[in-house]
Amino acid sequence: MADSPNHSIRTIAIDGPAGAGKSTIGLGLARHLGFLYFDTGVMYRAVTLAALQRGIATDDEDAVSQLAEAVHIEVLPPHKDDGRHYTVRLDGEDVTWAIRRADVDAAVSVVSAFPRVRQAMVAQQRRVASNGNVVMVGRDIGTVVMPDADLKIYLDATVEARAQRRHRELEQRGTPSSYADVLASMKKRDELDTSRATSPLRPADDAFIVDCTHMDADETLAYVIALVEAQKAARADMPQHSTRVARSSLVHPSSDR
Ligand code: DC
Repeated sequence: MADSPNHSIRTIAIDGPAGAGKSTIGLGLARHLGFLYFDTGVMYRAVTLAALQRGIATDDEDAVSQLAEAVHIEVLPPHKDDGRHYTVRLDGEDVTWAIRRADVDAAVSVVSAFPRVRQAMVAQQRRVASNGNVVMVGRDIGTVVMPDADLKIYLDATVEARAQRRHRELEQRGTPSSYADVLASMKKRDELDTSRATSPLRPADDAFIVDCTHMDADETLAYVIALVEAQKAARADMPQHSTRVARSSLVHPSSDR
């Protein structure tokens, strides 16, 4: 018999700071479950790129907000076999790789802090979430976009571990920069993402905090899959009328919250 809708897990939120491995884990989990993988960061990156392309100052809140309300961003299944996991289009243009540029990296935290930009993006993200069967990754998914998500994970690691990983990635991509620079920019992004007034980065009260400082990607994915299975099993044991699982019935990854 198929899972009862009351007991199935249809929406998973993964939040956490830059470089924690949310994309790798989110994608792996979505593949494992046969769910849609949706990385919401690409939307903020696409707005930032649009501003840069049009010569709009990325700190001009009014102009950037108007732009965010006007541009058409699509996140689609990959249409090319060049290592991408999805295709991002900005007003029809393929910007999947352009949104990873260093100038986008440098400006995106400022752009994503503007309330009207967030409002425009969150509305679109909620439409995607309403279809269910989705692993959605970002900074405010468990707190704002899907506060009723069936499972919320906050993936964390020390800033040094995250900077080391990002540093290695950049080297592998052939765009090396010094570890000290990567660490400094990671700290700056943490500061901007956690201190902004609108939807700052923080774990939802009912999120499972997974600290992957000492786990590699395979170990973290296995851990998260086990967490999903544990929640599914706990839900299957719940009486029909209840849709939420008592947190005490689950293996909690972190006892030091
Ligand atoms: O995950 P990322 O590095 O691609 O995210 C890019 C920026 O967008 C980052 O500075 C945080 C912001 N962001 C956000 O504010 N809310 C989200 N749901 C996703 C990303």
